[in-house]
Amino acid sequence: MINYQNYVCPNCHGNLALNSISFKCQNCKNSYPIDKTIPDFLLVNNQEKGEILRNRASQFDELSKIYGSSLWGGSPWVVVWLLTRKIRNRNWIGLDISCGAGQVTRPMAKKISYVHGVDISMGMVQKAAELSKKDSIDNIAFARCDVENLPFTDSSFDFVTCSGALHAYPDAEKALKEMWRVLKTNSILAIMALLEQKVPNIIDPAKRELKKSSTKDDAEKFNNASNSMKNVDAKLHRFTLEELKDLINKTGFNDFKYIKFGPVIIFNIKKL
Ligand SMILES: C[S@@+](CC[C@H](N)C(=O)[O-])C[C@H]1O[C@@H](n2cnc3c(N)ncnc32)[C@H](O)[C@@H]1O
Ligand SMILES: [Zn+2]
Repeated sequence: MINYQNYVCPNCHGNLALNSISFKCQNCKNSYPIDKTIPDFLLVNNQEKGEILRNRASQFDELSKIYGSSLWGGSPWVVVWLLTRKIRNRNWIGLDISCGAGQVTRPMAKKISYVHGVDISMGMVQKAAELSKKDSIDNIAFARCDVENLPFTDSSFDFVTCSGALHAYPDAEKALKEMWRVLKTNSILAIMALLEQKVPNIIDPAKRELKKSSTKDDAEKFNNASNSMKNVDAKLHRFTLEELKDLINKTGFNDFKYIKFGPVIIFNIKKL
């Protein structure tokens, strides 16, 4: 069952009225379309910002065509396990931010009562919804939104995750503050992000090999995705540990616990 009850207006946090094709904010009157059961909450009242966000999203839409396949993986199982191991109660409601094709969202849904998956790319959330349906998982609702304007009220979630995206956000501090806002007190935010660390680049050669051995159609999709991601890659910010600690303090989180391997850091922080 898709649960639309928890959504509020991402612009003013007002209540939303639902009809078959859209949500309308009862307060600021913004209207948000629903595309194949998935609400689109990208802000509509700031045209300039909206344009930047849509442009950004379209690069990930291209990637969504091969995301989660052998051509371009999402979070591997060990990352998913490390991120979700602090889930302790089946009655919890969780949020997976920048859920991509749902690699973390689906395993989370098996551990708790309900999960919301959100991402800036409609292509990604559509794919995530398809894959959940294929696995007969019916306790996830997906929506499209920007991490800086989540369509949920304060203190909505018992557990929040964000895998592989903090280093891609233009303003990590704003993003973390918004995650803090929607998390309940005494609850955990689990993040996977990239650290600044020089390691041999084994990913690109491996991807080139995959590309060679795949079909012409796959190779074309891979090329399109690679090209569209070049812009994003150039803007990725790899954190130092000190920088992360600073960010965590500034945004009000506590209890920083982490595991590092290679350039990857997986950490839990708590809203006290
Ligand atoms: C590397 S993927 C990670 C996907 C998934 N969490 C996983 O672990 O496989 C990064 C995701 O961040 C999303 N993203 C990028 N900028 C975003 C933003 N401003 N707001 C919400 N999601 C964003 C992208 O659309 C993409 O799906
Ligand atoms: Zn509103």
